[in-house]
Amino acid sequence: MMDAIAKEIEHRKNYLFGTADTNILDTIYFGGGTPSLLNASDFEIIFAALSLNYKWNPDTEITLECNPDDVTEEKLMLWKKYGVNRLSIGVQSFIDNHLLTMNRSHNAAMAIHAVELANKCGIENISIDLIYGLPDLSPADWQANLKTAEQLPINHISCYALTIEERTALSHFVKTKKINIPTDEIVITQFKELVDWAMNNNFDHYEISNFCRVGFHSRHNSNYWSGKNYIGIGPSAHSYNGHSRQWNIANNNAYIDSVTNSKPYFEAETLTQENKYNEYVMIHLRTKAGVDILQLQQQFGKEYTSHFEKKIAAYVTQNQVVVMQNNYALTMEGKLFADAIAGDCFVEV
Ligand SMILES: C[S@@+](CC[C@H](N)C(=O)[O-])C[C@H]1O[C@@H](n2cnc3c(N)ncnc32)[C@H](O)[C@@H]1O
Repeated sequence: MMDAIAKEIEHRKNYLFGTADTNILDTIYFGGGTPSLLNASDFEIIFAALSLNYKWNPDTEITLECNPDDVTEEKLMLWKKYGVNRLSIGVQSFIDNHLLTMNRSHNAAMAIHAVELANKCGIENISIDLIYGLPDLSPADWQANLKTAEQLPINHISCYALTIEERTALSHFVKTKKINIPTDEIVITQFKELVDWAMNNNFDHYEISNFCRVGFHSRHNSNYWSGKNYIGIGPSAHSYNGHSRQWNIANNNAYIDSVTNSKPYFEAETLTQENKYNEYVMIHLRTKAGVDILQLQQQFGKEYTSHFEKKIAAYVTQNQVVVMQNNYALTMEGKLFADAIAGDCFVEV
C-alpha cells in the first residue's frame, strides 16, 4: 500500500499546483482508517515521495489522526521526526462501557494518557473526537465527558452525532432492536449542552462539529470549508481542483493493483456552476461565518445571489439565520437544521 501511495504521489504531482515548483503545501493531513498504525518505514516511503514532488516548511500544518491505543512515546517521536505538529485523537468517549459498545480498542484511562503523553512530548496542537447521541449516553455521562475534556491539554475538539452506517454491526443491532438509539430530542439536547460548554470554556464554535481555542482551528478542514483545492491520495481519497472532483477506488487491493499496474484508479466529475454554488452554500452555511453575500455575488453573480437571498429570507424571519453585515449565518436553532436549510437554498442541477 505504501508503494502504491508513493506511486500515486509521483503520478499526480501536478494536480495541485500544475508544473509550478514554487508552491508550498499549506497542510498535510493523514486521515483514515487509522494512520497511527503506520511504522517508521511506512512514513519513510511516504515522505520520500512527498519530498521529491512537493515543498513544505515548518509552518505547514501536518495533522495525523490517531487512535489512543497507538499513542506511545516512540510513535510520538516518529511523528514529530516527520514534522507532524497536530494530532486528532479518536477518543470518542471517556466512559469505558460506551467504548466497549463502540468496539473501540482503548479505554478511558488510555485516552487520557494518550492526550497527556502527546502534550508532554511537545505536541501543543491536540484535537480530540467525541461522539454524542450514543445508546445509553445519559445527560450526566455527556457532562462527565465534557468535564474530562475540559481538564485535558487540548486546543480543539470535534464532536459528532452518532450516525448509523449501513452494513455495520451497529445498524444490524439497531434494526433488530438489540440496541436502542436516543431520540432526536435527546441528541439535540446534547448538542445544545455541547455548545454551552464550549462557550463557557473558550472554545470557538467555528464549524457545526468543530470547536477550537483561538488560533487552533484546523487549517486543513478550514481549507475544505472555504472551497480551496486539495489532493487526496490513497484508497477512496477525494480530490478537488476548483472545476472537477475525483475519487479513488475504495477497495485496498483494487487500489494497489490499479496504481501499481497503471490502470485507471479513480472516477471524476466536472462540476457545473450549479454544483459549485450548491456546495458553496452547504459548506459555508456550516461554518460560523456562514455565507458572505458579496463573495457569493463575486463568485456566482447576481442570479445565484438573488436566488439565495430569496430562499434564505424565510429562515431569517424564523430566527434560524442571522444577518451580520454581509454574512448570513445559522443561529443555534438553525444549526439543528443546517443541511435542510442549505438544501432549500440549492439550485436544481
Ligand atoms: C475519519 S474518522 C477517523 C477514523 C478513526 N480511525 C476511527 O477509528 O473512527 C473521524 C472520526 O469520525 C468519528 N466517527 C467514526 N464513526 C462514526 C459514526 N458512526 N458516527 C459518528 N462519528 C463517527 C469518530 O469520532 C472518528 O474519530
